[in-house]
Amino acid sequence: MTDVAIAGGGLIGLSVAWRAAQRGLRVTVVDDAPGTGASHAAAGMLAPVTEAGYGEEALLRLNLASLQRWPAFASDLERAGGIPVGFRTAGTLVVGFDDDDMRALDDLHAFQRELGLAAERLPPRATRRREPSLTPRVRGGLLMSGDHSVDGRSLHAGLLAAARAAGVRLVAERIDAVHVVGGRAAGLRLTGGERLDADVVVLALGARSAGLPGVPPLPVRPVKGQILRLAGAAGLLEGTVRALVRGRQVYLVPYAGDRLVVGATVEDRGFDATVTAGGVHELLHDAIEVVPGVSELELVETLARWRPGTADNAPLLGPSALPGLVLATGHHRNGVLLAPVTGEIVAEYLAGGELPEPAAPFTADRFPTDRPSTDPSRSG
Ligand code: GLY
Repeated sequence: MTDVAIAGGGLIGLSVAWRAAQRGLRVTVVDDAPGTGASHAAAGMLAPVTEAGYGEEALLRLNLASLQRWPAFASDLERAGGIPVGFRTAGTLVVGFDDDDMRALDDLHAFQRELGLAAERLPPRATRRREPSLTPRVRGGLLMSGDHSVDGRSLHAGLLAAARAAGVRLVAERIDAVHVVGGRAAGLRLTGGERLDADVVVLALGARSAGLPGVPPLPVRPVKGQILRLAGAAGLLEGTVRALVRGRQVYLVPYAGDRLVVGATVEDRGFDATVTAGGVHELLHDAIEVVPGVSELELVETLARWRPGTADNAPLLGPSALPGLVLATGHHRNGVLLAPVTGEIVAEYLAGGELPEPAAPFTADRFPTDRPSTDPSRSG
């Protein structure tokens, strides 16, 4: 028996687990392969503005609230887990190539100014002064000094260590179903017939959240992303570079050492894990067009994973239609960025029964398929 059973040991599940354990709850995380889903692929950009679109102001506010938490989250985590998480504060430069790209950049800048966000529009020469390895064909840029990055894989290792140090138990088993008794979640059923009883179950299975037996209908779907890792990039880029290459988006995220991540495709293909020639070609073509030096790098890894997409691109946080089942899923393109605020909000809800205000726009009842109960632990 545990206070909280968390289905899913990715970045979101572990952030909730760590924060809930710090609040004195007995927490068990169940995952047969923690950190091998979207957490393994994530580029680690902490880019609230460039990841939120028009009409997504509520999501943008949540993204910004989480970005604000990042410096303290990273240092707490490094202290607690003893593993550096590769938090980089070098900022993000967005660049464009043709007239349409530049119009999109100007629109983004206007949107940022409307929201009172700091961003600096750079002419071509200043854009290349900031990142000398950019092609001279770049027509200009937008510098967001506050949009940072973190190494997603180190972050997962750090969260695992910090969660364990805080007393979280990890059960490396496959989950068959949410165990439902008398109309409320009462634990998890594991492969092999075992059961983990819990007062509350947290669903943090990312793109696989909707398919688990016992879970009420949830509007979460897999959004495939192919992503590449390259080596030999030491000194190539100062910070993250995002580009519009004649309407197509690509991002290049440098890491400590000599690594560079290039991503990512956005595909509605269900749980298709194929890395395609076309996907890799498109990413490399666009990355090389933006930073020609990329053609000299070693291509060390290609992979495909699934973002947990929702209809409005925002997460599902807090109560669900099944009493005792709490949601921490649907983070789509923002799982890494939103890990601090999600961990904090959901842990607070688990410990105190009140959903903190920043989560209010993100309950599942904004979609017609799921009507939440109101208490994380009481049966409905
Ligand atoms: N956050 C970047 C992506 O989902 O590709």
